[in-house]
Amino acid sequence: MSQEQQEKVVFVGTIASSSALDQLNVFKGFVSVENGKITKVGSMAEYNLIATSNELSGYEKVMLHGNQLLIPGFVDCHTHAPQFPNIGLGLDRPLLEWLDKYTFPLESKYVDVNFAKKIYEQVVQRLIKNGTTTACYFGSLHLEGTLQLVECIIKYRQRALVGKVSMNVKNDANYYNKTEKELNDVETFIQKVIGYKSNLVAPVVTPRFAVSCDETLMRGLSEIANKYDCRIQSHISENRKEVEYVLSANPGCRNYSEVYDKNYILNSKCIMAHAIYLDEDEISLFATKGVSVAHCPASNTRLRSGLCPVRKLLNNHITVGLGTDVSGGDSATILDAMRRTMDVSIHLELLENMGPALNFKEVFYLATLGGAKALRLDDKIGSFEIGKEFDALIVDVYTKGGQIDQYEYSIDKNEEHYLLSLLQRFIYLGDDRNISQVYVKGKKVKDFS
Ligand code: GUN
Ligand code: FE
Repeated sequence: MSQEQQEKVVFVGTIASSSALDQLNVFKGFVSVENGKITKVGSMAEYNLIATSNELSGYEKVMLHGNQLLIPGFVDCHTHAPQFPNIGLGLDRPLLEWLDKYTFPLESKYVDVNFAKKIYEQVVQRLIKNGTTTACYFGSLHLEGTLQLVECIIKYRQRALVGKVSMNVKNDANYYNKTEKELNDVETFIQKVIGYKSNLVAPVVTPRFAVSCDETLMRGLSEIANKYDCRIQSHISENRKEVEYVLSANPGCRNYSEVYDKNYILNSKCIMAHAIYLDEDEISLFATKGVSVAHCPASNTRLRSGLCPVRKLLNNHITVGLGTDVSGGDSATILDAMRRTMDVSIHLELLENMGPALNFKEVFYLATLGGAKALRLDDKIGSFEIGKEFDALIVDVYTKGGQIDQYEYSIDKNEEHYLLSLLQRFIYLGDDRNISQVYVKGKKVKDFS
């Protein structure tokens, strides 16, 4: 047995973990972890019992203090690693112009492998610092450049799905590949990622969107996804002009989803970002096929794309996770995505009568177990359950130098409410300063304590 496999740790303190959209559990207790996997979860009373027996001999003990929380790591279901150098810049244009003017020119630079390596080192560390233990990444068009991203992820031990972006339709930046080269590169990319033999990183087939991919490419990508049993990710129905364009280019299709569906892109391993303007037929199609949605409220607002009706998608049995969508989104943290999800949801309740708005408990679910389900990783991560792998954050709510002050006033001294108030404050006010430790598959990947 290797050194890594023998690690046994028990975490004791306040634990918060969702088991469903409307089921948040916050309690004082313990989680024990062996070989990166959760072996037991229980109350404080149960902990005291096993602590007095010798059941925990050989375990390292991590005792949380009263204002700390143990929560599952955050899942970012949609972000663009190569776009980070543009974060917070160039958000003055709508989607299609923004892509041509800012995004494709930047992504073209990743033909330079050294440039790619430097940027991706920063990106992966930034996300881990923000508590993103799992990310579903779009890379760039480049095979070698995107392999650099995979190597950084492996180096820093993040869990990830990574896609080499596919495009074969000409654009002003000349940022596309010929179909044959594209399909070959995607297959090579998948084989190389599989060849790294990482149990944390998997390839994902990534047609950029229907504007940049023709039918031959989409069908070829679908075949590759089937051959290697890969997930597929793309964008859908983000912006009204985009939808109009896709429908005019595909006159035989009644809606955007049909363009993907007739090219075999939609299935239960498919993650679609945005999905703002889906009609009723598309919503049923997504539910029937098991397509999940990555909700990206920051970019939907910043690029003035629209307000995604997440409550409606959830009510219609569509699996939803959260995405930061950098650099259409201006923030790389899922905490921000949670807050903006609540804001957009409140605006829809106020303006469109599409309530009830999602509350902080529900967005916590979307940021953890919901995201894991959207990426089809919920057999491994997203909550603290026996048999799952331990991806977790230790959150220090009133950390020194942080944004959240503690006051000598409490509206309610009830213990359960106090524990919930810690999580509530972190969700509304927290940032990376409150994330003191980050674990992926049982191993500490960052220690800021
Ligand atoms: N649609 C196609 N490509 C992109 C992208 O890079 N960002 C966003 N937000 N939407 C897209
Ligand atoms: Fe995107």
